[in-house]
Amino acid sequence: MNLFQKRVPILYNLQVGPVYFKMGLAFPELAEKARPGQFVMVKPNERLLPLLRRPFSVHCPILEDGQVQGFELLYKVVGQGTGAMSEMEPDDELDVLGPLGNGFSFPQEVRHAYLVAGGVGVAGLYYLGLYLQKMGRSRSTVFLGGCSAADILCREEFESMGAKIWVTTEDCSLGEKGLVTSMVENVLKDNGKPDVIYACGPQAMLKAVRDLGVAHDVRCQISLESVMACGFGACLGCAVERAGNPGAYLHVCTDGPVFDSRAVAM
Ligand code: FES
Repeated sequence: MNLFQKRVPILYNLQVGPVYFKMGLAFPELAEKARPGQFVMVKPNERLLPLLRRPFSVHCPILEDGQVQGFELLYKVVGQGTGAMSEMEPDDELDVLGPLGNGFSFPQEVRHAYLVAGGVGVAGLYYLGLYLQKMGRSRSTVFLGGCSAADILCREEFESMGAKIWVTTEDCSLGEKGLVTSMVENVLKDNGKPDVIYACGPQAMLKAVRDLGVAHDVRCQISLESVMACGFGACLGCAVERAGNPGAYLHVCTDGPVFDSRAVAM
């Protein structure tokens, strides 16, 4: 396993929305090994709460003149740890462990993929979109959903890839009004089904994606979010129940975070 841990300097920490930030980390050896869907565990500071590391998806590698300089996180400020991160500046250091987890898989037969993101769930899906574009054998249709316009992230980045993009917000401040999964259902009915659906977002959204996959006979890979204390299978705090096997568990950090949607009970 290619696993790295060290304190690394921050390259930049840019606010990209009311509660959203992009942070560049100078960790090229980790960036070169990380696959779309994998995550890192980050601990901002030994003296600051929380004491435990927190998981973040690898958003994308940072390239300069074709050389990998590090990787980027896209994160939402939701508590003490991310609040502390949002106040950090270039050259401050973070303790980073990774890459962890399994990441998305890319079956040979995939020619058309749906990427379905709820809010900051787009963090790992953007890297997936870059990867699919680089492989050059599949096209992507991207669905971005959020409560309001401020939660719609990476739209321009996906546009620059040439992906077809559908946007929904629950308050109708951008795109169509409603849930992103309603838009997925409409497009599935009108435009035909893709070979695979990749999704990351809130649990209710992932469950709806799973149900759409079953109804339309499309395989879905869903990236689960979970509270994680260790990130590598030691604390057993990220257990989720196996589908069809009550009492048997999978671990989001080591068996996931990406699962076939039929594998986990939701
Ligand atoms: Fe500790 Fe998964 S986070 S076992």
